[in-house]
Amino acid sequence: MPTPAERSLAVFPGGSLGEYDLPPEMTVVLARGKGCHVWDTEGRAWTDFTMGWGSALLGHAQPAIADAVQRQAVQGANFAYVTEPALELAEEITRAVACAGRVRFCASGTEATAYAVRLARAFTGRGKVLKFEGAYHGAHALGTASLFPRRLLAFPEPEPTSAGFTAAALRDILVAPYNDLEATRAIVERHRGELAAIVIEPLHRCTSPRPGFLAGVAAAAREAGALLVFDETVTGFRLAYGGGQAYYGVVPDLAALGKALGGGYPIGAVAGRADVLELVREDRMGDPRYVWWASSVGGNPVSAAAALATLAELRRAGTYERLFALGALLRDGLRATLTKAGVAAHVQGDGPLAAVVFTDGEVVDYRSAHAADRRRARAFLLGLFRRGIFLNPMSTKLYLSLAHTEADLEHFLDVARATLEEDVP
Ligand SMILES: Cc1ncc(COP(=O)(O)O)c(C=O)c1O
Repeated sequence: MPTPAERSLAVFPGGSLGEYDLPPEMTVVLARGKGCHVWDTEGRAWTDFTMGWGSALLGHAQPAIADAVQRQAVQGANFAYVTEPALELAEEITRAVACAGRVRFCASGTEATAYAVRLARAFTGRGKVLKFEGAYHGAHALGTASLFPRRLLAFPEPEPTSAGFTAAALRDILVAPYNDLEATRAIVERHRGELAAIVIEPLHRCTSPRPGFLAGVAAAAREAGALLVFDETVTGFRLAYGGGQAYYGVVPDLAALGKALGGGYPIGAVAGRADVLELVREDRMGDPRYVWWASSVGGNPVSAAAALATLAELRRAGTYERLFALGALLRDGLRATLTKAGVAAHVQGDGPLAAVVFTDGEVVDYRSAHAADRRRARAFLLGLFRRGIFLNPMSTKLYLSLAHTEADLEHFLDVARATLEEDVP
């Protein structure tokens, strides 16, 4: 009888649902999760530091979310039409997110950023989009261009990280170094008149913006007549209830939302300026600026009910203080552990996010992170995984949740200590 792991390797390429680069012998199949713990089909328990890539910000099987989903599920899963939960959720997003004059739903962060870019192109009548090197915005051309570049071409030329995109699609993408306002401004200046949007994660993976960087990027976009799109798939409802735009005090024209908003259920949304979002009104079809937007499951009432329950929990007093305290504890603990082990590394992140970059240099952008020792990073991540820390071994990004406790972080640090000692050369 093949094991679940063997069956998974036989049917899924790489035994994975995507972007989970485990050696075949480490393949597992998960059975269930509760709080910040997951169990595999062999009964092994793991402490989760990826939390559905940050989608389960309240924890797995969180009772309020599970209850809301169960109550909605018996009322019908999907109508591809406005329901009370979707309506309430959109209204709450307009209260929470500063740029949100209007909202439309889709089913993922990938779709949300794709729609935001399409809207920006339609609104401005221009084709080019600027992104920052190393940023992920979803599985499309813009999201994957220069995601993990190796040749480090001269800016603004993109390097595809994924095959399957045409040269024409890549020609419309400009790449700039994050945190380098001067270089970004120069690229914007050279392409003004053809630049539709600047797309940016306000917290770039786990790299914080330098003071004034986001405001400078916003000004550069405005001066060029391009739209500023914040990809808040990660930062939305995580760095603050109002997302990265509230946390950093810079309001974009459009924001892409996903992940934490759905409490683990599939969701995506674009929230933004009414005059831009109104381009999707179906009665505008035939207008050259009309944007097609359709999603069979976007805004479905089960995801919307999960999202409403999630947001209600996040609005409770002390939530963000708790998430930030946990994040600080993890980052400080990691720094102390790495120092004690004599390992040169930089611990990044903000709020409930952390990442380790194995370098003794400053990390401000993709290239400074790329210079790090990736062999050590891989050994560290696989060592943690082997010792029962569930995480994505393709990135050192760690996601915390409201379900994590100080004891879970202590456990993580103990495991990190052993891993550094035994596995990291
Ligand atoms: C910043 C950012 N944008 C977009 C996405 C894509 O979201 P999804 O996986 O829901 O398509 C991700 C996913 O990791 C992300 O981190």
